[in-house]
Amino acid sequence: MKIAKIIIIGFGNVGRAFARTIALKKKFVESRYGVSLSVVGVADSKGMALKSDGFSEYELLKLCEVPRSGVNLFSPYAYNYVDLKYMYDMVQPDIHVELTPANYVTGEPGLTNIMFALTRGAHVVTANKAPIVLKYKELLEIAKKRSLQLRFRSTVMGGTPLIDTIMSLRSEEIEKIEGILNATTNFILTEMHDKLIDFEEALKKAQIMGLAEADPSLDIDGIDAAAKLVILSHVIGCSISLDEVKRESLSKIKLRDVVEAIKEGFVIKYLAYFDVRRRETYVRIVKIPKTDVFAQVNGSLNAVRIKTDVGEILFVGKGGGGLETAHSVLDDVIAIAIGSEGGMR
Ligand code: HSE
Repeated sequence: MKIAKIIIIGFGNVGRAFARTIALKKKFVESRYGVSLSVVGVADSKGMALKSDGFSEYELLKLCEVPRSGVNLFSPYAYNYVDLKYMYDMVQPDIHVELTPANYVTGEPGLTNIMFALTRGAHVVTANKAPIVLKYKELLEIAKKRSLQLRFRSTVMGGTPLIDTIMSLRSEEIEKIEGILNATTNFILTEMHDKLIDFEEALKKAQIMGLAEADPSLDIDGIDAAAKLVILSHVIGCSISLDEVKRESLSKIKLRDVVEAIKEGFVIKYLAYFDVRRRETYVRIVKIPKTDVFAQVNGSLNAVRIKTDVGEILFVGKGGGGLETAHSVLDDVIAIAIGSEGGMR
C-alpha cells in the first residue's frame, strides 16, 4: 500500500483534533483510497516527537493527551527543541501540515515553515491563514516550480467546501462576495439577540466553546473575516491585501443597539463584503431585515453569497471548530496522498 508520511507543525486545538481524526479515520482511508497516512513527526512551540515508521493510532491518541506545549514529554520519541531541518532529515515527510497560529504582521512562524517545506520537496496543507494572506503568490510560485501542492481549504469556512467549489467555477466571473465569515462574532451576535446578554458575556461563551482565536481581537476587530476575504480574493485571481479591507470593530456593539434593532424588525450582523469590479471591500456591522437570508444564519454558522455573471450561489455551513477544521485539513491531505491534481493551487 502507498504510504504518505505526514508531519504536523503546531499542536494546539486544531493540531490535536487533526491527530485524533487521522487516528480514527486511518482504516477508513486505507480501505477506501488504498493509501496509508503515517504521522512521522509532531512539533509544538517547545519540542517535537519523531518516529520514522509512523505513530500508531494508539500513540496518536496518547499524544493528544500531553499538556499544552508538552510534545517534548512524549517519550521515548520526544526532543526538547524544535529543529525543522533535523525533523526533515530524520523522517523525510511527503506532506507538511502547518497548524501554527496566524500572525498577520510577520506571517511567522508559518511562512518560514511553509517555505522550508516547499524547498525540501514536501506538499503543504495549511490551516494557518497568515502565510496565504500575506504571501500567496510567492508560495504558489515555489510550489508550482517544484510540482508540489499547496492546499488551504480549511482556512475559509473550514466545515464547508467553499474554496474547492469556488475553484471549480472555471468559466464564471465572480463579481461580489458577501457573507458571515467569522463564527465567533456571529455566535456573539446570536447570543445577544436571543438571550439579551451583553457583548462581554457572549464573547466569554465563544471563548469557552473554543470558537475564538487565541487572541480574540482577531475575531472581534474583523481581522479574521478580512483575512478570509483576502484568501478568497487570491482564489478568484483578483487579489486584495489585508490593508485594503476597511474594518469596523464589533466590540462597539451594545445590547441596547441589539434591542433597538429587534424592535424595528431588524437583526444586526457582522458582514464581510468584496465588490470585485469596484475593489470595494469591508467588514462591518450591518442592520438587515429579519427576512434577509443572512438573518437566518445564526450561532457558529457561516454563510457566503457569491454573485457571478451567471447568477448567485449561497453557501451556508460550519465555519471553524476543531473537528470541522481537522476534517477539512484531512480532506486536503487525502487529496494529495491519492495524487489528485484537481485542486492543484
Ligand atoms: N476564530 C475563527 C472564527 C475560527 O470564529 O470563525 C475559524 O476560522
